[in-house]
Amino acid sequence: MRIDVLTLFPEMFAGPLEYSIIKRAREAGVVAINLVNFRDWARDKHHTVDDSPFGGGPGMVLKPEPVFETVEAVRATQEVKGPLVYLSPKGERLTQALARELAALPCLTVLCGRYEGLDQRVVDHLVDREVSVGDYVLSGGEPAAIVLLDAVVRLLPGALGDDQSTEEESFSDGLLEYPQYTRPAEFRGWKVPEVLLSGNHEVIRRWRSEMSVEETRKKRPDLLIGPKAEATHE
Ligand SMILES: C[S@@+](CC[C@H](N)C(=O)[O-])C[C@H]1O[C@@H](n2cnc3c(N)ncnc32)[C@H](O)[C@@H]1O
Repeated sequence: MRIDVLTLFPEMFAGPLEYSIIKRAREAGVVAINLVNFRDWARDKHHTVDDSPFGGGPGMVLKPEPVFETVEAVRATQEVKGPLVYLSPKGERLTQALARELAALPCLTVLCGRYEGLDQRVVDHLVDREVSVGDYVLSGGEPAAIVLLDAVVRLLPGALGDDQSTEEESFSDGLLEYPQYTRPAEFRGWKVPEVLLSGNHEVIRRWRSEMSVEETRKKRPDLLIGPKAEATHE
């Protein structure tokens, strides 16, 4: 998969892209992540990318020209075209289902806003999807893009040592994951549930399935409401 990230702060990605799963996926050629600073496409000598809002008000708005020109230049280098996703608090919520949908694409372009956001003409005429990481406002799209990249890259075949681990975790079947334990079997008097030491795979499978529903009921009952949840647990 190829992911182009358009940002005014490519340096912010240095740490997150250079550790653990994303690092290994990049090194293994599972994903190629290309950071592009759209300030480089600003034509004036000060490389201006923002201006004050028409109609007045606080803050600055990202100008359309550098964003359009950057996207057009990046798209010209993409062998297969993918959607342009703008990270925005106004967008559809990032979910595991959306991460899976994006991970199935061969190519994705991700746009990070800053200041008061983008000129609306970019949203109306260039952006394919607006995606939010939650109902709160960040200072810029970069932290949100890092969340999206992480959620997508770990789903790519070959990104994790064991691809099965993304099939059994929270949200993969609409539920939260069952509790996990490791050695020691007893710690400060707290014992690991006996069933996990039984070696009986079928009993363990059933216990995990029940605990998964229990965790969801306790922590995210909203996930158990609706047709999808009913279909999964009947
Ligand atoms: C300060 S915010 C702009 C907020 C905008 N003025 C508003 O009220 O909707 C600057 C940039 O951060 C990013 N951003 C902020 N909150 C976000 C969120 N919850 N999810 C995704 N991106 C977000 C967007 O790219 C946005 O253009």
